[in-house]
Amino acid sequence: MARRYFSYRTLDDLRSDARRLGLTLPLLENRDEIRRWLARPVMIAGPARSWKVGNSVAIHPMEGCDGNPDGTPGELTFRRYRRFGESGAKLIWFEACAVVAEGRANPRQLWMHRTSAPLLKSLLEACRQAHEKRFGSLEGFITVLQLTHSGRYAVPKPWVAYHHPLLDRWPVVSSVFARERPAAPEVASDGYLEALEDQFAEAAARARDIGFDGVDLKMTHGYLLSELLSARHRPGAYGGTLEGRARFALRTLEKIQQRAGKDFLLAVRLGVYDGVPHCLKEGQGEGAPREFPRPYTFGFGVREDNPLQMDLSEPLQLVGWLRRAGVSLLNVSMGIPYVNPHISRPYEKPNEGVYETPEHPLLGVARHFEAQSSLQKAYPELAVVGAGYSWLQHFLIHAAAANLKLGRIKLVGLGRAALAYPWLVRDALEKGELNPLQTCKTLSFCTYLMRSKNHPLGQFPTGCPPFDKNPYGRIIKEARHAARKN
Ligand SMILES: Cc1cc2nc3c(=O)[nH]c(=O)nc-3n(C[C@H](O)[C@H](O)[C@H](O)COP(=O)(O)O)c2cc1C
Ligand code: SF4
Repeated sequence: MARRYFSYRTLDDLRSDARRLGLTLPLLENRDEIRRWLARPVMIAGPARSWKVGNSVAIHPMEGCDGNPDGTPGELTFRRYRRFGESGAKLIWFEACAVVAEGRANPRQLWMHRTSAPLLKSLLEACRQAHEKRFGSLEGFITVLQLTHSGRYAVPKPWVAYHHPLLDRWPVVSSVFARERPAAPEVASDGYLEALEDQFAEAAARARDIGFDGVDLKMTHGYLLSELLSARHRPGAYGGTLEGRARFALRTLEKIQQRAGKDFLLAVRLGVYDGVPHCLKEGQGEGAPREFPRPYTFGFGVREDNPLQMDLSEPLQLVGWLRRAGVSLLNVSMGIPYVNPHISRPYEKPNEGVYETPEHPLLGVARHFEAQSSLQKAYPELAVVGAGYSWLQHFLIHAAAANLKLGRIKLVGLGRAALAYPWLVRDALEKGELNPLQTCKTLSFCTYLMRSKNHPLGQFPTGCPPFDKNPYGRIIKEARHAARKN
């Protein structure tokens, strides 16, 4: 029987478990204070202008895998963004959108190009209209689009930054989805990367034309721009030293500014700690690190002598360069969800075929808090968005308000919590408390759907089946049925 961790009835239960684990977990208790901190507006200071976010809550980028084969949003995509628009969060971070066809992680991922741009514009407008209708104004409502190339996880063909001794063989963790890859995947050439910089800049210019306030370079979760950050063994311009590994991002930011202007909001979602690939322990449900070479020179933000621990020295240096390149908004994430999902999304129960968490999820939450706070403290003028709050269920607002008060972040970002309980932010702002019966229980059905491919379009849409039953209850039944048939 798998172990369960979240069994807290009160904040004191949570506090004492944190103490038992040796963690300091600040939690604000007073409801009015919680409301005040979450409602506090945030200024994002760019090189040529600034933006005011109407409160301190963001919705994280979350792919719905519900677009059309041509990269345009589908019906469910519109539904999600209307709900996010009405959520009460003032910063909506639109999900990963590929900049080239071959950079998509699934055949239903959004993809920015000349003919999809008008529909992406309608999606943005639907989100903005939903917000305006509910709150009477668009003041302080900011939207950012995440731009990506899925690299090693692109379909049908992976594009890797370099040959990784573990990921080349085992690019995914689960027994269901993991098939050892027989052939070494192709390394994206320098020429390919140089052309790709222009494609990011073009996609950013389109995003600006259709009305987004800014774009995010997705440099996390093992995708191409994130993998480049650990490409120490890659020869040529885009590897080796940190300067080489950061070259793609810095040149792309410069090109985006040239195309979209200095008054366009530049954001980065940065994976500050890759961790190491994990697998199921033989004969057990629990996860364990795969055997790794030492020194471990194949991850970003990891200690070479012990990659199970963070070393933020390079991420801290990189953020300074990103800042100088015009980045004013930083969303801090970590982990490679395909091989160590417990790091980016601390969970209670894994999705089918994936390992039980190898650590107490509160340790994972604390790792997120430590990383976001180190970056915020080092760059107080930067607007840092923190992740990893959903496992805390209804106590997440207590931790978020405390982190805001202590200056450990400027904005709290909500991922799974917002899928399960879309009016969470309104409840938090109005009442200073959440309904425990509605909060995400981190049971990973959404991730199961995200990894379900036996659909006529090659991908099932994702959402929250337990709390958003219509339509996702039916969709998960179909996904399970399709999996059994296969
Ligand atoms: C269904 C789903 C889709 C996601 N898609 C993205 C994405 O497009 N881009 C991204 O940077 N992170 C993505 N993530 C990660 C979330 O943004 C977030 O970092 C993660 O869920 C941890 O935050 P939480 O604890 O609040 O859920 C996704 C997560 C989920 C559950
Ligand atoms: S399916 Fe719903 S409850 Fe489960 S982890 Fe995802 S958002 Fe949370």
